[in-house]
Amino acid sequence: MKTLIAYFSHVGENLQDNEIVELKKGNTEVVAEKLAQYTGGDLYKIEEDEPYPFKYDDCLRRARREDENNEHPALKGGARLNMDEYDTIYIGFPIWYRTYPRVVASFLDQYDFSGKQIRPFCTNDEGTFGISLLEMQGALKGAQIGNGLAIRGVNVYEADDKIKAFAE
Ligand SMILES: Cc1cc2nc3c(=O)[nH]c(=O)nc-3n(C[C@H](O)[C@H](O)[C@H](O)COP(=O)(O)O)c2cc1C
Repeated sequence: MKTLIAYFSHVGENLQDNEIVELKKGNTEVVAEKLAQYTGGDLYKIEEDEPYPFKYDDCLRRARREDENNEHPALKGGARLNMDEYDTIYIGFPIWYRTYPRVVASFLDQYDFSGKQIRPFCTNDEGTFGISLLEMQGALKGAQIGNGLAIRGVNVYEADDKIKAFAE
């Protein structure tokens, strides 16, 4: 059985130390790539069919609308993973409005995670999971959701030790 690292990460403007910055590579992607390196697992990028806006304010507006209406936007490429191959699945995301982006909710809808070992990780501006772990427990009944790793976006390039420990 194999390990999967599935993650969503937004390229464009983001919130860092309460300031808007332009990221060439998403923070969550940085962590996901290191996890793939340390675990030897397969890396999979969760992508939305209709791209989230580059501009922070526009992205925030759409994220708020999706959050308020609990929209589950379509995934680019649909559900193309064979989840039967995997027993351990790292699921990574930025915190948007105290939980995972709705496109990650769409991803969780698509597959049967029962009996799987789930290892959540997130990046954010505040250092916590918000309500995302609770929400994930509700969405993935029958899965075993382990302790998660939360890293502040400003720290992703200095978090190797934590990421390595999490991968073991
Ligand atoms: C639409 C949007 C909403 C956000 N909401 C929060 C939030 O509620 N709490 C928080 O700590 N950070 C929030 N952030 C900051 C991101 O979680 C943080 O910059 C994260 O590291 C981005 O990861 P990424 O580059 O992989 O997308 C938000 C960012 C965006 C774009």
